[in-house]
Amino acid sequence: MIDLRSDTVTKPTEAMRAAMAEAPVGDDVYGEDPTVQALEQQVAMLLGHEAGLFCASGSLANVLGVRLLVEPGQEVVCDVTAHIARAEMGAHAALHGLTMRTFPSVRGRLDAAQVAAIVAPDAGPYLVSTAAVAMENTHNFGGGTIQPYDELVAVAELCRGSGMSYHLDGARLWNAHVATGIDLLDYGRLFDTVSVCFSKGLGAPVGSVLVSSADNIARARVWRKRLGAGWRQAGILAAGAAYALDHNVARLADDHASAKGFAAAVADKAPAAVDPTSVETNIVVLDTADVAAGPIAAEAAVRGVLVSALGAHMIRAVTHLGVSAEQCHDAGEILGGLLADGR
Ligand SMILES: Cc1ncc(COP(=O)(O)O)c(C=O)c1O
Repeated sequence: MIDLRSDTVTKPTEAMRAAMAEAPVGDDVYGEDPTVQALEQQVAMLLGHEAGLFCASGSLANVLGVRLLVEPGQEVVCDVTAHIARAEMGAHAALHGLTMRTFPSVRGRLDAAQVAAIVAPDAGPYLVSTAAVAMENTHNFGGGTIQPYDELVAVAELCRGSGMSYHLDGARLWNAHVATGIDLLDYGRLFDTVSVCFSKGLGAPVGSVLVSSADNIARARVWRKRLGAGWRQAGILAAGAAYALDHNVARLADDHASAKGFAAAVADKAPAAVDPTSVETNIVVLDTADVAAGPIAAEAAVRGVLVSALGAHMIRAVTHLGVSAEQCHDAGEILGGLLADGR
């Protein structure tokens, strides 16, 4: 099977497992796990923030990050296909009483003017006030889209100028950093809170870090425990994340090249399904036009390729360290053939 459903399907290598097995650990709820602390400090430093908090998932890091910035009854503004809006099971509302207001986007790409048009930082007693804006970089459902840096800066300035905060869902910020060459510090400094993941393209089994000011992270630690997500000898997991950070960032460029190769192979047979020049990182979105995506994905599975049908006519393929460039090319030929045949 060539598994392109997600970059979360990666499994730890022998070397990563060895690093995890050997990690010094302690009780992290007591603040005594040296491997967790080292990871939190390293990530905070990379992103230019004072402190970090190791979390079990990207969703948890986002839920905590947004909670730090938005009080119950206030709103966070994000795009309509943002992971925080679509895929966190309503946690922000269900657990923290926040509302979300969304703006439409093309492939999840940020247009600062759209944000400026809908935010209401101090809406008075009759309307909901916008406490924060949240961005996603790269954008998952948009197809691995890299946010234009000048637009990110424009929204940062808008937030600072009008008393709103700014959260980044940076689950795949590593991919944006590798694809653009923009320093992680230059991304990190724009935001009040940033979440990053190790269990996606970086290949660790578990883990995300939320970074922010020391005060904010102290509050996030309380919220994490309140949600039952304080953990003990988590250094075993943090060691996998640290290994991923040290070994698997630069190689994301290979995944980006494989994604382009996959898209080119699809387009060779089914040009309308994807424009290979639109592929920016490790995610490829295919438009199945008037053919239903579900049966195409099911038939691809029969032929040894796993992809996700994410909409009625949308298929997503994600490259990662568990698949070679050649496998991605072969998978593209299979998908292209199915799309060309209309089945
Ligand atoms: C952009 C983005 N943010 C957050 C997450 C949540 O990560 P997790 O699955 O670890 O909760 C994902 C997961 O795919 C994601 O793609």
